[in-house]
Amino acid sequence: MSIDSLTALIRTIPDFPKPGIQFRDVTTLLADGAGFAELVERLASVARPLDPDLIVGIEARGFILGAALAAALGKGFVPVRKAGKLPGRTVGIDYVLEYGTDRLELHEGQVPPDTRVILVDDLIATGGTALAAAQLLREQGASVLMALFAVDLPDLGGKALLEADGVAAQALIA
Ligand code: PRP
Ligand code: ADE
Repeated sequence: MSIDSLTALIRTIPDFPKPGIQFRDVTTLLADGAGFAELVERLASVARPLDPDLIVGIEARGFILGAALAAALGKGFVPVRKAGKLPGRTVGIDYVLEYGTDRLELHEGQVPPDTRVILVDDLIATGGTALAAAQLLREQGASVLMALFAVDLPDLGGKALLEADGVAAQALIA
């Protein structure tokens, strides 16, 4: 399946969650068996040569793609969650949003020092979420081999933000 066909499976919903936002909804792609398999295989083709130890996915849609990718590669999966969701002891990072702040957390010890990690999410917009997750992983002593996304919104400059911080970033669909 071509990238154009994959792109066509992603629906755009205007004015969600706020007026002016064009929301790129990947649930339509995930609901298509051939499309989902193709997406995961394309992510795996990028990730496999880097031979990561672990895949880390960002809540919530990064769990779906990250877990599927980890299983395709035969690697473990670790979730980065929004504050207060993980039951065990956590390490976390506060980060600035357009309005206010948010916090991402990881189970303590699940990303040991020197782990080679690929960070996964469905979409990169401003890059603030992925940058905070990458910083949290680095604080654990991990090396972030790359941040990998299904979709990029290039006008928002997220990939450039990550790369300015030394995190290689790639998206399949722009
Ligand atoms: C979306 C998306 C990324 C983030 C990208 O998640 O899945 O995680 O936004 O935005 P950024 O590059 O500007 O940081 P959302 O905040 O909608 O949370 P959800 O996946 O839990 O619904
Ligand atoms: N996260 C941030 N901006 C988004 C958008 N336009 N579509 C889907 N998820 C997003």
